[in-house]
Amino acid sequence: MTVHFIGAGPGAADLITLRGRDLIARSPVCLFAGSLIPREMLAWCPPGARIVDTAPLDLDAILAEMAAATAAGQDVARLHSGDLSVWSAMGEQLRRLDAAGIPYTVTPGVPAFAAAAATLARELTLPEVAQSVVLTRTSGRASAMPPGETLAAFGATGATLAIHLSIHVVDRVVAELTPFYGAGCPVAVVFRASWPDERVIRATLGTLAAEVAAARLERTALILVGSALASHDFRESALYSAGYDRRFRPGAP
Ligand SMILES: C[S@@+](CC[C@H](N)C(=O)[O-])C[C@H]1O[C@@H](n2cnc3c(N)ncnc32)[C@H](O)[C@@H]1O
Repeated sequence: MTVHFIGAGPGAADLITLRGRDLIARSPVCLFAGSLIPREMLAWCPPGARIVDTAPLDLDAILAEMAAATAAGQDVARLHSGDLSVWSAMGEQLRRLDAAGIPYTVTPGVPAFAAAAATLARELTLPEVAQSVVLTRTSGRASAMPPGETLAAFGATGATLAIHLSIHVVDRVVAELTPFYGAGCPVAVVFRASWPDERVIRATLGTLAAEVAAARLERTALILVGSALASHDFRESALYSAGYDRRFRPGAP
């Protein structure tokens, strides 16, 4: 029997993958990670499924659920928000499952930064403006940042930053990034991207703190920083230029 880790996407139920939905539908146990999982997804569980919100559980209790299902010959759908490769706490669960000899699969999901970029209808990498996106966060109660992974260090690159788990310390974000990007640098905050109550703030580093305070945004917001958020005079990419010789359009004039 198998524990299926599934990236449930950013919020809208139809942003899960077909594979993820099908795994939910055929797993008699569903463990979901709290309020960031849309409740519509739980309706895809088979009739009589055991459905458990793991938000109040510790790691031992979550593993006990997985072990009990395995002993009963049942597959488990394990839902986490967004994608599993970032801030999902999947790593520690997989390590325990390895130790217990319980098999698992991993199905990716749409990450919050991609959903936020879609809401803004912006490409985060524009030719000669930004060619890197840094997915980062500030230190919190649950996790300290490793030395070297500072906003200043990432800011020094000029890359587009997607700052998670940090809307409550927006003043600190502004103070650390302004020396690198300048007060006029465009910023967008997307609150609950793809949920019905999604909200967007467009600001600059200089106006961001006041805008966030006025909007009273609390959690589940992503702060995007960088010139790519507002650049309009960027160079077109060579990919579609008429003179670019590429594999599927060889010898283009
Ligand atoms: C624990 S992390 C989970 C990240 C997730 N695994 C992903 O792939 O995006 C939670 C943080 O992600 C961001 N986040 C998650 N869902 C979001 C959404 N729908 N809109 C905006 N930000 C979101 C917020 O910064 C939130 O504090």
